[in-house]
Amino acid sequence: MRSWLPSKIMMQAVAVTDLHGNIRLYELLLRVADLWKLTSIFITGDLAPSALQGQLKGSVPLTNENQGVAIQKAFFTEQFIPLFSSFLLEHRHADIYVIMGNDDRRANEPLLEAFDQEMPNFHLVNDRLIELRDSRQKQAFFPGEVLLLWVAGYPYVPPGGCLLMDWVKYENRIKLRPEGMDPTTDIYEVGITTDVRGHGSTIADDLDDFENYLLKNGRTDRGSVYNPSQTIHLFHASPYNTPLDWTTPRGRYDYLPLSDHVGSVEIRRFIERVQPYLVLSGHCHESVVTGDYKVDLGETRCVNPGSQTHLDVLSLVQFDLYHPQDMKQFFIHAH
Ligand SMILES: [Fe+2]
Repeated sequence: MRSWLPSKIMMQAVAVTDLHGNIRLYELLLRVADLWKLTSIFITGDLAPSALQGQLKGSVPLTNENQGVAIQKAFFTEQFIPLFSSFLLEHRHADIYVIMGNDDRRANEPLLEAFDQEMPNFHLVNDRLIELRDSRQKQAFFPGEVLLLWVAGYPYVPPGGCLLMDWVKYENRIKLRPEGMDPTTDIYEVGITTDVRGHGSTIADDLDDFENYLLKNGRTDRGSVYNPSQTIHLFHASPYNTPLDWTTPRGRYDYLPLSDHVGSVEIRRFIERVQPYLVLSGHCHESVVTGDYKVDLGETRCVNPGSQTHLDVLSLVQFDLYHPQDMKQFFIHAH
């Protein structure tokens, strides 16, 4: 059969993560998307400014968690949604796939859900499985030439240094606390929560039967069939003990060496077990400097684009949706 598509399709997708409300980097991302004629943009969490950054820039002093929610709400309604809205209306061939991250207050999730509802090419993929639109379109015009692909999202991270608990789950039944923390303390009691929906299970529980987990959440498109080998998985946490989950070296506490890896053990086990088509993650900003942006776990390519948002540098990875081993890393300065 004659192939209508070139065997090497141009690299039409990018992944970025942890932009933490840096609107200049979002603008730069969309300029790049326009210039490179991208069809698929993946953002793996920590979308909004941390409440502390908002406090420094804004005039209202942060005195309680409601203001943390308000600062991020203002970011979504006044900056993020208008910017993405105007881009997506002008670029009907482009789709943006987003999950939230541990710094994003879940109380604002309905804002992004509403935007997803009204904008056909914006997709909030928290706990969700949807079709990759690029693959559906290519299948329609060139049947059999490309795999039909899906996108699944899972924003949760294991307990770490952060106080916000909306997207934090214990890894498994052992319920490991962050290093140095009193092992009898309940992380959900000492932390801050704006939405408790995530607290009922562990990462291991959810990933043990991920298809069932996605269906149970009831937000998966009708007719979706979960096949990991055809699904791009978006995680906020990176797989543990890989080049993707390095954090700033923290040395030792007394005689105890502190881990320089802060990823998820259970997400790594899951990847090794089910071998997804492609894994895109984030959370660990420094991995691009101290580790690497990509690693293969078995057959699965895993990518963490890292974050240099504090330097106004857009850290992105461009790749081919249908040949995901073809990828390239870019650092682009916003000035
Ligand atoms: Fe982050």
